[in-house]
Amino acid sequence: MKKQHSPMKRAALGRREFLRLSGWSALGLLAGAAFRTPQALAGRLTTSQTSALAAQTPDFVPDVEIALRAAPDQVQILPGAPTTVWRYQAEVLSGPTNVVQPLPDTYLGPILHFRPGMKVRIRFTNDLAEESIVHWHGLHVPEAADGHPRLVIGSGEEYVYEYEVMDRPGTYWYHPHPHGRTGPQAYMGLAGLIFISDDTEQALGLPTGDRDLPLVIQDRTLDAQNQLVYSTSTAGFLGDAILVNGQPKATQQVNPAPYRLRILNGSNSRIYKLAWSDGTPLKVIATDGGLLDTPVSRAYITLAPAERVELLVDFSQWAGQTITMKSLAFSGGGLIGGGPGGGASQATLPNGAEFPIVQFQVAQAASSLPFKSFLPLMAGPVTSSTPATNRWTQADRTFQLYMQFGQWTINGRTFQMEAVAPDETVTLGAEEVWEFVNQPPAGSMGGGGMPHPIHIHGLQFRIIGRQPPTDAQQRANWETVKDGYVDEGWKDTVLLMAGERVQLQLAFKDYTGLYLYHCHNLEHEDMGMMRNYRIVAPTN
Ligand code: C2O
Ligand code: CU
Ligand code: CU
Repeated sequence: MKKQHSPMKRAALGRREFLRLSGWSALGLLAGAAFRTPQALAGRLTTSQTSALAAQTPDFVPDVEIALRAAPDQVQILPGAPTTVWRYQAEVLSGPTNVVQPLPDTYLGPILHFRPGMKVRIRFTNDLAEESIVHWHGLHVPEAADGHPRLVIGSGEEYVYEYEVMDRPGTYWYHPHPHGRTGPQAYMGLAGLIFISDDTEQALGLPTGDRDLPLVIQDRTLDAQNQLVYSTSTAGFLGDAILVNGQPKATQQVNPAPYRLRILNGSNSRIYKLAWSDGTPLKVIATDGGLLDTPVSRAYITLAPAERVELLVDFSQWAGQTITMKSLAFSGGGLIGGGPGGGASQATLPNGAEFPIVQFQVAQAASSLPFKSFLPLMAGPVTSSTPATNRWTQADRTFQLYMQFGQWTINGRTFQMEAVAPDETVTLGAEEVWEFVNQPPAGSMGGGGMPHPIHIHGLQFRIIGRQPPTDAQQRANWETVKDGYVDEGWKDTVLLMAGERVQLQLAFKDYTGLYLYHCHNLEHEDMGMMRNYRIVAPTN
C-alpha cells in the first residue's frame, strides 16, 4: 500500500503574478504597506526565539506581515460585570490590510483571510503570564511554523512564523498549543478563524459579505461574577452555556436569501448533533479541508471538537419566521453517569443533551442590499479528488485509543516532547493507510468508553471507511450519531465513538519534520493523549 510520490510540484509565483491571481491591485498593496507602529509590539521584550527552526529566513519575501498578540482582555458576555478573557488581536504590518478582519463584541481572534500562494509572515507576541505558541489548525505548513509545543515562547517573547499558504479554499482556525495548557488557554478565548479563498471558489458565486456567516460554537461556564470557570478531568470539560461567536443565547437576523454558514466546533470536549428545528435537511458544501466535490445532505450533522462544516442554506423558505439550529440528543457522549475517570459532577449540561444553539430571525422581505444570485452550486468538481469512503483495506499502521493506569493513551503511550517511536516515523512522499481503533487491546486491562476526535497535524486526509462497534451498548450509542458523519471531503479531524474503527488515507508531502497527532478533546490532549510523528526524507 506504500506508494512513492514525487513531492508536489508547486509553481513558483512571481510577485506580479501573485498580485494578479490574488486580485489585489499593486496600488492597494502599496497603500497597505505604509508601516504603522503596531500597538501589539509596543512594550514587549526584545528576547526572540533563537532556535534555528524559528529563524527568519532572509530570502523569504512575505506578501503580508501580521503582528499577532495574545493578551488578557475584558469583554461583555453577560449583562453586568465584563468577563476577563484571553484573546488574540492582530494587525497588518505590511501588505493588504483586509487580510485581518477583527470581530466586534467577542473574545474570538480576528478572521485571517488567506489565498493559496500567499506568503505569510506572522510575528506572534505572547503577552500572557505563561508560555504559549500558536498552531494553524488544518494548514499544511513547515515544521517550524506548526506551533509544536516544544517551540513555546515565554511571556513577552516573540515567535516569527513564515509560510506559504498551500491549502484549499475553506475554513481553518488557529489556537494555542503549549503542552498541558491548550485546554485552558483555548477556553479563556484564544481561538480564531482562517478563511482561504481563491478565484475558482469565488467563481462559484457562493454567498459573500454579510451572507458568509461564521458560527463558532463553544460551551462555557460563567460564575455569579460573570467570570469563566474551568475544571478538568479525564472525561474533559463541559460548560453549561452554549456560546456562538462568543455570545450566549445567540440570535442572528438574516434576510430571506441564501447564506453560507461556516461552522466550527471550537469547544474543548463537547460534541454537537446539529439540526434545524423543523427537521429540514442540512446542505453541506465543505468539511475541514475545504469544499466538497458535490454538496451532500444530512438530516443532522455530528460535529466533534475542531471539526468544521460549511452549510448552504436558503433562508427564504422561512421568510418572516424564526428557525433554530439546535443540537439533538445522542448517547455515548461519555460524561453521563461518570464513565471512566468520572467527571459527571460538572456535567450540568451533559454531552448528548438537547439544546438550542442559535436562533435565526428571518426578515419578511429581502433588504435593499443587492444579492448576486449564485450559480447552480458546484455543477462540476471543485477539487481534483474523489470521495474515498467504504474502501476498507489492510492498514499500514494501527493506533489503539484507550485508558491505561488512569491516563488516556495512543497505543499505550502518552506524549513525550521530543520522542518518536519507530512506528511513528514515515517517509516523505509516501502514501499510507492509518487505522484508529477506539477500544483497548483484546485481553488487556485497558479502559475505554469515550468518544475521541482524532486530529493529525500537517495534512488533510481522506476517510476510507468505518467499522461500527461490536459491543451492543456501544453500537446502540453509535447509531445515535453515525448518520451525521460527513466523511466525503478532506478532513483533519475524525470522530471515533467508543468501540468504533476508522481508516484514513494520508499522503506526506513537501515537508519533513516533527508533527503531532492527538485527541482534540483538549483535556485528553493536555493529559497526554498526543504523540509526535516524524516525516523523514527517503533514503536511496
Ligand atoms: Cu487544533 Cu494539535 O490542534
Ligand atoms: Cu492541528
Ligand atoms: Cu480523547
